[in-house]
Amino acid sequence: MNLRKFIRWPSPLNVAVHLRGVDELLSNSNPLAPLSADETRRAAEIRSLPRRNAFVAGRKLAREVLSVPLDCAPEAVPILAESNGNPVSIGEGIQFNVSHCGDWCAVAWSAESAVGVDVETIRPVPSMTALVRNFFPSAAQRAFDSAAPQNRAKVFFHWWTQIEAALKASGRGLDDSFDCLDQVLHETCDAVPGVALAVAAEGRGPLTITWHLP
Ligand SMILES: CC(C)(COP(=O)(O)OP(=O)(O)OC[C@H]1O[C@@H](n2cnc3c(N)ncnc32)[C@H](O)[C@@H]1OP(=O)(O)O)[C@@H](O)C(=O)NCCC(=O)NCCS
Repeated sequence: MNLRKFIRWPSPLNVAVHLRGVDELLSNSNPLAPLSADETRRAAEIRSLPRRNAFVAGRKLAREVLSVPLDCAPEAVPILAESNGNPVSIGEGIQFNVSHCGDWCAVAWSAESAVGVDVETIRPVPSMTALVRNFFPSAAQRAFDSAAPQNRAKVFFHWWTQIEAALKASGRGLDDSFDCLDQVLHETCDAVPGVALAVAAEGRGPLTITWHLP
């Protein structure tokens, strides 16, 4: 009997993650050029300059990155806004997600799965312990509790970014934070000093991540 006919092997998942500086993304003469009319309008409505810059950089990076697999110009990448605020692409089954924090902007994409990405600059957070108690899974709580005080912010963002990425990939909310990591594949990257970066994808894997770092 050929068992292969009866066994459903998990499909491999390939995810690319791109991390870039907001300032660098905005440094050319017209960073708004690749954005759609909707995105340009939305950017104009954002009053805070850092938030506006982060939004423009995120969409610029998403368009740049997705133009390669979609084989089109960045301005032609079809991006629609979902009602929950998550931008989606309607091209070739490609799914993507954007995150920004401080001077950093990240985009993850996959042709095989829904993805979520989160980037955070590692910084002091006054309510860190309460957030850990209220939202972190037990393994993350134990890791935080056993970290030396000077490492706690790093451990906090190591887990926080994974939780955010998992919630974004699965379309769930913070109420599901305790078990969200069990529902997705997830991985972190700590190659950039001072930055926590994590990605999550729905599915069973095996997961292969290509990190594109500055
Ligand atoms: C809404 C949320 C995604 C914002 O996250 P954040 O850490 O403040 O900001 P990030 O920079 O990491 O992510 C923001 C980007 O994620 C994307 N995004 C927005 N809403 C999203 C959602 N519901 N799911 C996935 N991605 C979303 C957008 O691209 C947004 O950037 P843009 O508006 O400039 O394009 C965050 O609150 C979150 O992850 N919550 C958990 C999931 C959740 O509660 N979703 C809300 C369900 S309605």
